[in-house]
Formats: sequence, structure tokens, C-alpha cells
Amino acid sequence: MDPAASRHPTALVTGANRGLGLETSRQLLAQGFRVVLTSRREKEGTAAARQLDPNAHEVLYHALDITNMQSISTLAADLPALAPRIDVLVNNAGVGSWGSNLEKSKETVAVNYLGSRDVTDALLPFLPRGGRIVNVSSGLGELSYIRRDLRPRFTDPSLTRPALDSLVRSYLSDLDSGNAKKAGWPSAYSVSKVALNALTWILARDLEPRGISVNSVCPGWVRTDMGGRGAPRSIPVGARSIVLAAMLPGDATGGFYRDGKKIPW
Ligand SMILES: NC(=O)c1ccc[n+]([C@@H]2O[C@H](COP(=O)([O-])OP(=O)(O)OC[C@H]3O[C@@H](n4cnc5c(N)ncnc54)[C@H](OP(=O)(O)O)[C@@H]3O)[C@@H](O)[C@H]2O)c1
Repeated sequence: MDPAASRHPTALVTGANRGLGLETSRQLLAQGFRVVLTSRREKEGTAAARQLDPNAHEVLYHALDITNMQSISTLAADLPALAPRIDVLVNNAGVGSWGSNLEKSKETVAVNYLGSRDVTDALLPFLPRGGRIVNVSSGLGELSYIRRDLRPRFTDPSLTRPALDSLVRSYLSDLDSGNAKKAGWPSAYSVSKVALNALTWILARDLEPRGISVNSVCPGWVRTDMGGRGAPRSIPVGARSIVLAAMLPGDATGGFYRDGKKIPW
């Protein structure tokens, strides 16, 4: 079968070789989506894709390291032959850093914020009117984790992409100089997810004329490698929250959701 010929809507999921990304792919497949499952580690990703669809009819695989511009460009270049239209983009790939390790903190921002931003930019040409972008955020990305005086800088209704990027850069420079805590920043994970939520809002506003909706979702605290064994939620329950965000009414945009219900940002 020509993989580009399917008439099913297509979803592309990042970081889908394990955890919530893999289960989200499974559930989207069950909902009738064709899935482009992506991962930075090709062997694990291919195995995950074949686990969901041994014949590679409805689950296609492509490598994608969301922090590597070459990897993102290769995906974008290959997409026309694989799946010329992406109806749903799920920016799921993420890493967690709650401690004070400098390199891990930087990586967390690079993956959770910058990586999701760059993948979205590169894949936007493939999203049709009615397309949806779901940014997998976290309850730890609620604004309340940011010191009160910093919050208006993220919620300014006229916030632009360059201004958001510069806010994130100011966090990174405070990290480098050892001043992040003093300057009011929470963990790198919280900063990355607050920034991702702000990006959701900016993209929702800017993409409204193109009929593309953009929402953030919290899967809850889930028993994945990241969430740990003590988390209260199973992976299918957490992924269900992501899938519900992908299937919101088309006019729902710029919101933060958990289990299909709007939550405060
Ligand atoms: N678990 C929770 O309680 C929880 C709560 C709130 C939000 N979330 C969010 O849910 C999302 C999924 O997390 P999870 O719990 O499923 O975590 P996980 O089991 O640790 O899986 C994370 C996934 O992201 C991938 N990834 C990391 N860096 C990447 C990169 N540079 N390029 C491509 N893929 C990359 C990992 O790939 P490798 O296998 O190659 O490392 C893995 O597939 C994350 O955004 C996370 O922040 C999770």
C-alpha cells in the first residue's frame, strides 16, 4: 500500500517509543487515526511501531530527535512521501529535571520547550485547516509555580514568540550565573512547561486565522519512567487525557486541559 494514500486522519507523536507517547499512539490508532510514531532511538521506535501495527499499514515510523535541527529537517523532507497531511501533532517528548544539575536543567528546557517549538515550526506547513496541535505539559507548568512578579511576563496578551524566547533565555542565563533561585525561577521542568503553555497560547492566537487549534494538556501524574512507580495514574489513563485533548471541539483553542476538562494555567 502507498503509505501516503490512506484516507484516515493522521497523527504524529513525538517521543513515542515508550511511556505516554507509545500509549497515546495506541489509543489514537484505536480511534481511527493513522499514526506517525517518532522517536530519537530508531531501534526502540521501530519495535514500538511494529508492536502496534506489525504490517506497517496504519502506524508508520520515522526517527526524530526533537533537539536536533537536522533530524527535524529530515522528517519534514520525508513527510510528503510518508503522510502528506498531519491532522494532529502531539508534542509529547519530554525529560524531567527537578534538581539543581546545570546540564540536566538546560537539557530539560532544550527538549520540553525549544524542541517542541522547533518541531511545531517545521511541521506547520503540513497541518491543514482544522489541524490540531497538542502540547503535553504538566501540572508543574501552572503559573502558580512561578514567582508572582514574573507571572505577568508570561501572561501578557501581547507576548510574542521572540519575547517568550528571550524570557526563556533570561532563565538560562540566570541558571548559568547560579542566580536562578534568587531570580524567582522554579525547577527547570516547571520553567520549561510554563514556557510551553505560553507558547500554546501564542500559537493558538497566531494560528486562529488558519483554523488550527493549539492546546496544552496535563496527563496527570503517571507511572512511566518519568513519573515513577509511586504515581497514582496508569499509563492508559494518562494517555487518555492526551487523546481527549486531541479530540476537543475544533473551536477549543489556547486552553490547558486535563481529562478533557479545562484547568487553570
Ligand atoms: N509521567 C508523568 O507523571 C507526567 C506528568 C506530567 C507530564 N508528563 C509529560 O508527558 C510526556 C511524556 O512523558 P512520560 O511520562 O511518558 O516520560 P518517559 O516515559 O520518560 O518518556 C519520555 C519520552 O520522551 C522521549 N524523548 C526525550 N528526549 C527526546 C528528544 N530529544 N527527542 C525525541 N524524544 C525524546 C524519550 O525517548 P528516549 O526513550 O530516547 O529517552 C521517551 O520516548 C513528557 O512531556 C512529560 O513531561 C508526564
